[in-house]
Amino acid sequence: MLIGFMGSGKSSVARVLAAKTGLAHVDTDDMVVRQAGMSIPDIFAKEGEAGFRDREHDVLKTLIAMEPCVISSGGGVVVREENRILLRQLGTVVYLEVTAKEALARIGHNEERPLLRGSVSPQQLLDRRQDWYEGVADVSINTSSQSISQIASDIYRRLRELQVI
Ligand code: S3P
Repeated sequence: MLIGFMGSGKSSVARVLAAKTGLAHVDTDDMVVRQAGMSIPDIFAKEGEAGFRDREHDVLKTLIAMEPCVISSGGGVVVREENRILLRQLGTVVYLEVTAKEALARIGHNEERPLLRGSVSPQQLLDRRQDWYEGVADVSINTSSQSISQIASDIYRRLRELQVI
């Protein structure tokens, strides 16, 4: 399970890691969108952040029963305590560390992330979440100035060392 702030590279890295390990890749945001039949901005607009978080939690619960796979999550998956408990049950949690500045540079102008249009700055959001990310992570990876394939290789090596794969 990959966790980390928006723009930390979770989905792209998960795709490469899945190819490297031969495991399937699932993305919690994609599952939420599929099950809701709405885009993330539409879910936030119609149901608020709370509605999105409920849907995200439901998706996490369904993943418990799945075969081993590489999971990429939404950046706010750690906000709810019940999710942090589920993350620990889901297997090895890898935290992709990124600064708010670098995350924004990677994301660029993107309408798909409603929280970036809110009143809380990305730095404040990251500060709020930092301890939660670190608290649930088994492995932390510094993604600063690293390419997607370098990050995936780094994770692969660490998971081999831990004998997870
Ligand atoms: C969110 C991050 C997004 C998405 C939603 C909320 C967050 O996923 O789940 O917009 O709270 O940080 P990414 O981290 O893939 O951008």
